Amino acid sequence: MAKPYEPEKPDPIDFEMVRYYAARADEYDDWYLRRGRYSRGAIQDEAWRSDLQAATEWLGSQTYRGRIAELAAGTGWWSPILARAGQLTIYDAAPEPLAKAAARLTDAGLAADQEVRDAWSEPNRAVDGLFTGFWISHIDRARLDEFFALAMRWLHPGGLFAFIDSRQDSASGARDHQPPTDDVQIRHLNDGASFQVRKVFYEPGDLEFALRRAGFIEISVVTTERFFVLGSCRRPE
Ligand SMILES: C[S@@+](CC[C@H](N)C(=O)[O-])C[C@H]1O[C@@H](n2cnc3c(N)ncnc32)[C@H](O)[C@@H]1O
Repeated sequence: MAKPYEPEKPDPIDFEMVRYYAARADEYDDWYLRRGRYSRGAIQDEAWRSDLQAATEWLGSQTYRGRIAELAAGTGWWSPILARAGQLTIYDAAPEPLAKAAARLTDAGLAADQEVRDAWSEPNRAVDGLFTGFWISHIDRARLDEFFALAMRWLHPGGLFAFIDSRQDSASGARDHQPPTDDVQIRHLNDGASFQVRKVFYEPGDLEFALRRAGFIEISVVTTERFFVLGSCRRPE
């Protein structure tokens, strides 16, 4: 039985984000696949697919091994790549997308442990690799250092932390979404329900500095052509 989402530092928007992703689980992959409200016309959709391919190849080239934790794994779009590289555990605060991730892995003949878990919870073990997809852009600017310090505590010495996240581009989201104001964005579902989420478009240079402040080494933060930022770094030995 999944534990309810009980953040250690409650913030109303954090609760709302989890409710949003729980309700969006069935339609979440429409974003990746440019279906329905996420289709932005042939030219934009092709640019998206090209960037998605680049991000996929980038993640596949990361040297994950051993035990890997994926926080805020959602529907597990990236999980098969990680599960092929090591012994994966997928975590998310919402059981609904996590169930989709588990099914995706099963369909691909892959296995992973899964747990409903707040990404802000203190690690309960150390791993060789940590991954987050589109989670960092949901972190309040005031808490970025706190999260990177937590990411460090997840890792064994020498461990790898990599992430994929969003760059601001008007063709990234749904047709009926406006850009965030003061890092808060209104999101809609297909049935018209709306939710507030925090969405922060961190500059690659700001992420690089924050990773350095946290003590990571071998830091690389690069971008795809338009839509994604790709980061990797290691905990020192
Ligand atoms: C943008 S989705 C990313 C999903 C997946 N990582 C991906 O790359 O497609 C953000 C995910 O964060 C989860 N989430 C939101 N708040 C969370 C929290 N406090 N702890 C853990 N997961 C959380 C949501 O349930 C959702 O699945």
